[in-house]
Amino acid sequence: MLTDIMAIVRETGKLIRNADISKAAIRQKTSKRDLCTACDIEVQTQLFDRLAKLLPEAQFIGEEQAIRPAVTNGWTFIIDPIDGTANFAHDYRYSCISVALVKDGSPVIGVVYNPYLDELFYAEKGCGAYLNGLPIHVSGLPLSDALVAFGTSPYDLEYKRDTFALAEKVFEKSQDIRRTGSAALDLCHVACGRLDGFFELILRPWDYAAGSVILTEAGGVITTMENTELSLVKDSSVCAATPSAHAELLEIYRHYNEG
Ligand code: IPD
Ligand code: CA
Ligand code: CA
Repeated sequence: MLTDIMAIVRETGKLIRNADISKAAIRQKTSKRDLCTACDIEVQTQLFDRLAKLLPEAQFIGEEQAIRPAVTNGWTFIIDPIDGTANFAHDYRYSCISVALVKDGSPVIGVVYNPYLDELFYAEKGCGAYLNGLPIHVSGLPLSDALVAFGTSPYDLEYKRDTFALAEKVFEKSQDIRRTGSAALDLCHVACGRLDGFFELILRPWDYAAGSVILTEAGGVITTMENTELSLVKDSSVCAATPSAHAELLEIYRHYNEG
């Protein structure tokens, strides 16, 4: 199953890599920051079609789908056709496809593909995490030596004050901070030790479902900012890091909330 999903995702990535963004139709959804391009739709349609042939009994949750079916018993694919759509629309070339396979409410497979670098991150629960065939692990660095990415929750502006206040606090305690524009890639980059931590105050399940399997299998820790389990049913904050940096990030957040 994992091998077949990987092949489908890699093949579909060509739509992103070969897209001529100067000619692509771009639509605003909830705001000028929240975009959907013709390529988002094309990628989602191709993934739905091909993955449905692979696992006909599965249901689908995709970002560009009008309805958001509940994750119930049985198999569900949770898909972000392009994570990093604003990057894609600017031809910034830092975006990915994110596909998670969930069984009875728990993610069991995660596949994240960066078509620009031909980097395929993947993991199956209990079997370790990999990048293009090689095992990956989190760095193990503490926060003082960590490079930490954060997301700006650009579609939910009520989080912006807390986001940037926390970013300043994390900057003070870490080596440096980054804002890349793709949460799914950030999680994979923590998984392979290019980054050591990541946080964002609100994300959707398709942003983190696949990355959470990859990160956990690589020895990282991922929870909400309140240190509870991530939900695949509702939107959630995300704190993901090496075990020691994770504890320190949660502590900064707790301290910040206590004022
Ligand atoms: C977004 C990206 C971004 C994050 C946003 C996400 P999209 O996903 O992951 O880095 O800050 O919160 O919504 O809209 O490009 O699929
Ligand atoms: Ca996304
Ligand atoms: Ca998206």
